[in-house]
Amino acid sequence: MIDLRESWRIGTVEVPTRLVLAPMAGVSVQAFRRQGRRYGAGLVCSEMVSCAGIEHRNEKTLGYLRVAADEHPLAIQLFGSDARSMADAARMVEAVGADLVDVNFGCPVKKVTKTGAGAHLLEDPDLACRIVESIASAVDIPVTVKVRRGVQNGSRAALELGPRLVEAGVASITFHPRSAQQMYTGTADHALTAELVALVDVPVVASGDVTSRARAQAVLATTGAEAVMVGRGAQGNPWALREIVDGDTAEPTRAEVAAELVLFVRETVRELGARRASGFLKKFYGWYLGGGRFPKEFKQELLQLDSTDEVERRLLAAAPGAYEIVERLEAEVPSGAEVTLELPVSIYGGG
Ligand SMILES: Cc1cc2nc3c(=O)[nH]c(=O)nc-3n(C[C@H](O)[C@H](O)[C@H](O)COP(=O)(O)O)c2cc1C
Repeated sequence: MIDLRESWRIGTVEVPTRLVLAPMAGVSVQAFRRQGRRYGAGLVCSEMVSCAGIEHRNEKTLGYLRVAADEHPLAIQLFGSDARSMADAARMVEAVGADLVDVNFGCPVKKVTKTGAGAHLLEDPDLACRIVESIASAVDIPVTVKVRRGVQNGSRAALELGPRLVEAGVASITFHPRSAQQMYTGTADHALTAELVALVDVPVVASGDVTSRARAQAVLATTGAEAVMVGRGAQGNPWALREIVDGDTAEPTRAEVAAELVLFVRETVRELGARRASGFLKKFYGWYLGGGRFPKEFKQELLQLDSTDEVERRLLAAAPGAYEIVERLEAEVPSGAEVTLELPVSIYGGG
């Protein structure tokens, strides 16, 4: 049995467990990443950040570059198709304190691929390699990539691209063995992950359909990957991470679920501001409270509320004992001044 509590390395960066929390657009806020770290993820990643947005100093984009003190090791993921601006953006990623800069060569969404970025680069290996080379020569932190198997169903493009990306300078490859065309349908074909592992001499992280310890063990054992990545399985369910890393199968109590959600709401309000957080958080209510944890009507009630203060009040009222857990968590988790939530001023100044 592989010990998921074993550390491994990406270049100079030590990753304390073999579980990586997936980058997910619209999900991977600081609260998600910090919670992931607490429940056993050895590495967390920002959602994909637009290189063009950074170049134009778009304020919302720059917000994605905030790194908290207790998130390390942390990767910030960039997407874009221009080698020079990707290198400039990577310098910014390094300046804000990320441990790794990750490049997205897997996003299947039209809005991204039509700009020549994301999964589109799986079909333009020369440009993909130029982007990696350009970033690797611009920063000292390790450069990593996240790829899908290819664009079309059945494609094996990643197997040709992988070794070339390593030559171009990547220190690790995360592999999601679905095609872009598949989006999230079908299953991740980890037989292909085993093939990639055999072809490259950098650590490979296996992504796709890992939701349990049994599955994580099977994927690690059959592919030779260094670590597994968990995405959808962790949405509203940090306990899945604990089960995967430690084999702790205890279901959370209602008080624990409510307390984690309250903390999540508080941290997200702090990060995004109350107005943006209110809409952003709604999908999390379903994720946390579903699966029989709370009655459906209670979830519906929360979805009707626009005030996150009111959401918090109802959660605490519905789950006796939650308040004490929140107090304890807040005492354990550094917050406020101990955590870097603001960007270095020079970033806003354009430096
Ligand atoms: C809502 C959502 C957003 C995602 N956003 C990103 C992203 O920004 N960057 C990326 O590399 N992958 C992204 N992914 C893909 C995941 O990182 C992961 O590879 C994929 O979901 C398969 O893993 P899973 O079965 O554990 O969810 C996203 C997936 C989902 C479901």
